[in-house]
Amino acid sequence: MKIITADYTYIDGRYHKAYAVAFEKKIVAVAPVETIREQYPDAEWIEKVSHSVLYPGLINTHVHLEFSSNKTTLNYGSYLPWLHSVIEDRNHLTETCTTEMMIEACQSMMQSGVSTIGAISSMGLDLDACTTTPQRVIFFNELIGSNPQTVDALYDDFIQRYNSSAEYTEKRVTPAIAIHAPYSVHPIVLKKAVAFAKEKQSLLSAHFLESQAERQWLTHSKGEFKSFFDTFFNQNRATTTIEAFLSGFDGYPTHFTHCVHAKEKELEKIAREKHTIAHCPRSNRLLGCGKLDLQRLERLDIPFSLATDGLSSNNSLNIFDELRAALMMHHETNLHMLSLRLIRAITSDAAKILHLNCGQIAQEYEADFALIQLPEEPKREEDIALWTILHTNQVTELYIEGERYI
Ligand code: BEZ
Ligand code: FE2
Repeated sequence: MKIITADYTYIDGRYHKAYAVAFEKKIVAVAPVETIREQYPDAEWIEKVSHSVLYPGLINTHVHLEFSSNKTTLNYGSYLPWLHSVIEDRNHLTETCTTEMMIEACQSMMQSGVSTIGAISSMGLDLDACTTTPQRVIFFNELIGSNPQTVDALYDDFIQRYNSSAEYTEKRVTPAIAIHAPYSVHPIVLKKAVAFAKEKQSLLSAHFLESQAERQWLTHSKGEFKSFFDTFFNQNRATTTIEAFLSGFDGYPTHFTHCVHAKEKELEKIAREKHTIAHCPRSNRLLGCGKLDLQRLERLDIPFSLATDGLSSNNSLNIFDELRAALMMHHETNLHMLSLRLIRAITSDAAKILHLNCGQIAQEYEADFALIQLPEEPKREEDIALWTILHTNQVTELYIEGERYI
């Protein structure tokens, strides 16, 4: 048995002073320091860090490791020019992205306290990195293909990748399914994939309404996607509509990424169907997609996570960089409430979205912890979430399933 203690411990959205946590692989007890000392006299105490705050391990629900080699290649600023550049540079980017590079990307996330990731895997090239990193990984095998002539081969490849990723549950890797996007997945294969997800009881995720151009294409088969599909896929109409795509997930709660251009009626359906949203504010900014209306999500009670997306649409995978960006971008929201809300988005809410028994410091939960150190003692306890977001770049300690990795 080990005991970890901090000046403040984040429990159920609040900061508790002078608490201690007894743990093995799972959390055994959470209580004031003196109570734990009496209960576990022989346990090993981890030395306390000054001005420390103990959080559950942080969760980044949406990242693309296979594009980790991008720094100055892809075309940022507007969605279609970016998508063109992805197609043009895809081979070069994936060839230069080694397993070592992807492991480094995972390590950089661990440095920022991330103990769990949702890895969107387009080709399965990231499986070795995901079985090597000690992090918990939801391995979202991505399905793509809107051309009826190639969908069967692409579907078979997807099933093979899914099956390969299902062999590593002892390495904390859980197989899951990602639908690339409404514009890039044929409705017939979408139907097959959702049926497969239901059969396997797998988590399901999909990019949805990221850009205005996507909305325009799906609604009118017009706009910037028109020449894109003309050039690359010899296709002049969208193969689905927003409504038909979204209805494809009815009865199976799905984690939708972006949703920046979802309108009220789509968000109402998302809420009704118990779907959730991954919010990637820096990716949305860098690809010229605009800003998700978080207040609308709050009003409709739609759970959301905060995620970095990949280095194909971001400059770092540091979750604190993402938290700061979100804090600055959503300037219309009360600063203190937003800080607390964002911390919840990367802990308990993200864990519930990914069906994981972590993200909370409570008895029986996984012993995943991120310990951060504030630069000095917080003068107001109600501002600890804000100070954490503003002042943290790297965590001081990180534990996954009771083992210390940082
Ligand atoms: C498609 O298969 O339709 C597709 C693939 C990549 C990007 C866009 C569309
Ligand atoms: Fe993404």
